[in-house]
Parts: sequence; C-alpha cells; structure tokens
Amino acid sequence: MKRQRITAPTGMHDILPDMQPYYKKVYKALEDIADFYDFQKIDTPIVEQLELFEKGTGSSTDVVQKQMYSFKTKGGDTLALRPEFTPGICRSYIEHGMFNLPQPVKVWFYGPLFRYERPQAGRYRQFNQCGFEIIGDENPVIDAQVIQIFYNLLKELKFKNLMIEINSIGDNQCRPYYKKSLANYFKYREAQLCSDCRRRLKENPLRILDCKEEKCQRIKSQAPQMIDYLCEGCKSHFKKVLEFLDELELPYHLNPFLVRGLDYYTKTVFEIFEDSKGTEGVNLNSALVGGGRYDALIKVLFGKDTPACGGAAGVERIVESLKEKIKGFSVSNPKFFLAQLGTMAKRKSLRLIEELRVEKIKIAETLGRDSLKTQLRTAGRIGVDYALILGQREALEDTIIIRNMATGKQDTVKLNKAVAEIKKRIK
Ligand code: HAM
Repeated sequence: MKRQRITAPTGMHDILPDMQPYYKKVYKALEDIADFYDFQKIDTPIVEQLELFEKGTGSSTDVVQKQMYSFKTKGGDTLALRPEFTPGICRSYIEHGMFNLPQPVKVWFYGPLFRYERPQAGRYRQFNQCGFEIIGDENPVIDAQVIQIFYNLLKELKFKNLMIEINSIGDNQCRPYYKKSLANYFKYREAQLCSDCRRRLKENPLRILDCKEEKCQRIKSQAPQMIDYLCEGCKSHFKKVLEFLDELELPYHLNPFLVRGLDYYTKTVFEIFEDSKGTEGVNLNSALVGGGRYDALIKVLFGKDTPACGGAAGVERIVESLKEKIKGFSVSNPKFFLAQLGTMAKRKSLRLIEELRVEKIKIAETLGRDSLKTQLRTAGRIGVDYALILGQREALEDTIIIRNMATGKQDTVKLNKAVAEIKKRIK
C-alpha cells in the first residue's frame, strides 16, 4: 500500500521556529509605530457574515468572486473566512458606536487572512496582514500620513529603495463618467480582451485595469485616465495629498492605472513596492503595502456617512525580503546549565528550576537525560558559563555543584543557598 503523507493545505504554510524572529521583528516595529502615532489595536473575528464582504469588498471583485472561503454553519448562517480586515473593522466601528468617540478613530491590526488564490511566490491562501485605519476624517493630510506611516514602518525594517505608486480614482460624483468612457474604450476592443475582462466589462470596467494578462495590459495602456475625469473636489484633494507627500519628501510615482482590486476605494489609492534594481526592477505584481481612502464604505455597511483612509501590509512579503537582509538573529543563550542524575535529583531539579524562574534566571537543561557526561557535553555546546550539577550524592546531601566551565573550578554549595550563589555569579 502506498504510504500517505499529510501535508499543509495548498498555499498555506507553517511558520517554523527559525522564522519566528523575523515575524517578531515585524510585529515589534509595527507596535512601536502604532504607539508613536497613537493607534489603538483592534482584533475582529476571523470569520464574518459573507454579506459583509459582498457589500464591502464588492461583489464584482476577484476577492469576492473567486477567492472567498465561504460556508454554511450548522445553524444556517453563511459565513466567510475573512479575506481582508477593512470591512470587519468598519462593521465593528458601526456595531460598537465608535462614531460617538472623538474622531477620527485610529486603529491598527495584525492577523491571518484567507484568499483562495493560485499559489505563487509571495501569494498564499493563508497569510498575515498588518495595517492601520483612520476612520472619521476626510482631510487629505490623513492620506499622506497613512502613506508615511507605512513608509516609516518599512524604513524601520531597513527597507531601502521604496517606491510609492499613487492615483486618485475619484468618487461617486466623477467616477461614473470615467467608467462610461472606459467601457466605451474597451467595448471597441472587447474581442482582444481575456474572458475574465469581457465579464468585467459588463460588471465593472475599472477591474479591467487590474488584469495581469499581458494582452489586457497592452490594451489598457492607451485607455482613458481617471485623472482627466476628476471633479473639482477630488482634483483638489489629490493635489493636496501630493503636496503633503512632497513636503515629507516621500518618493512617489503617479500611476494612472492603479485602481486597486477592491470596490470601496474613493479618491486616493496607493501601493508601496521595494525597488531593488532601480525603477525598471519594480515588481508590480507584489506590492508590500496597499491602501487608500474609502469614504463611502461605512455608509454601504449601513453606518453614517463617514470618511476613512487606511492600508495594509503583507507580513509574509515583508518577511521574505527581511530574510535577504538579515541572515540570522543573535539569541541570548542561558548562562547556566543544570545537569542531574537519578529520580531524586530530577525532583529537586524541577523545584530549583521554578525558583530560578521566579528570579528570571534563564537555565538550560535536558531533564530527560541521565548521563552526566552527555549533559555536560550539551552544556559545553550551548556555551554556558556555569554547569550546576545535581548528582545522586548531591541530591542525598541536599547540595549542588557549581562548575565554572572556563576554569573547571567547582564549588559545592547547599541547595537552599543555590539561587543566591547563582545570582552572585551573574555579572
Ligand atoms: P490588498 O492590496 O488586497 O489590500 O492587500 C494588502 C497587502 O496584503 C498586499 O499589498 C500584499 O502585501 C498582501 N497580500 C494580499 N494578498 C496576499 C496573498 N495572497 N499572499 C500574501 N500576501 C498578500 C487590502 O487587503 C485592503 N484591506 C487594504 C486597506 C486597508 N485599504 C484600506 N485599508
């Protein structure tokens, strides 16, 4: 019979212990930045009502049409594993009456998301995102600050050559005119579009601009640009965002075809890329960060008309790049190793370890072992300063040997004085 192997689900991955320091580093940088800019942490459920994403993310988006993990519960509810945070956070804002708090409400988040995508480098079916949302402020300075915060987060993580792609996709006033003009343009070229884009043409021609198919990209390069259709309000908003970015000296590139794949955006949209080989080298398929303004979303979710802006970073994508930059982490090895022999010594060792834990003194051990020789070899390999030896005789006499690993000098001390003696040896 063929031996079966059970593996992680396609597109999902374990984060093994050797990778944890990278994730920890990202989390720490995120926490520090969030604290500095005065954001509060929010956690929302991993599953939400499917309707939240259909309404919020948008039913014409690839995320909702192709990438949702949705299911019926035993009670008959239709839920979905969250493919993004923003609609859940807006739902929470409405549900908990956060509009009664001083505005804007500034929250940050971190956690796993699920998208049924074709797995490839930097694209997973389960991945982590972190990000910031500022809800309740329409000022363009907020858009610039959100971009700056992500830029700073990446800078803190030693990213160089970052490039911000930015565009405005207008609002419900001006976008319909643009969509019409775009639909006309693509209708004329419908036969040359991929089958997905022919469907997109009917549902939402903006989505064609997102298509990664080469033939569609070629056609889109001549398409009308939103910037020429912006109403006065959106134009002035965008101009101010760019002026603030200039003030902050952030490097940006106006990308007239950046529309983002989610339905709720209004006005500013942006993505941040790492450009390792000069502008030509920017890999436009794998943004580290994506975000923008979404002034209409909270109303779509039956809340009050509330402007908002935010963004999210892909943690795996950041970590993959960090791995290239940081080749290893220094770990603080324990300075002590406890070697023991026999059942009585093991019992006393357990108690001593607890006493040391209370004193926050880190100690290495291999309690399951019995050979003192093997244990001392392990102590040598770890590179501890002292070995504490509790053999059968010491266990009987209630003593312990403290051996200086560098000099070989040994002191036998009473077990009840061991912690005090160990403390003396901490430089
Ligand atoms: P998004 O562009 O769909 O935006 O995702 C943001 C980031 O998450 C991407 O730039 C990428 O780094 C990462 N990401 C997305 N999909 C995957 C995947 N399959 N595997 C690995 N990483 C991925 C949003 O989700 C919006 N909610 C962002 C936002 C917040 N807009 C306003 N507020």
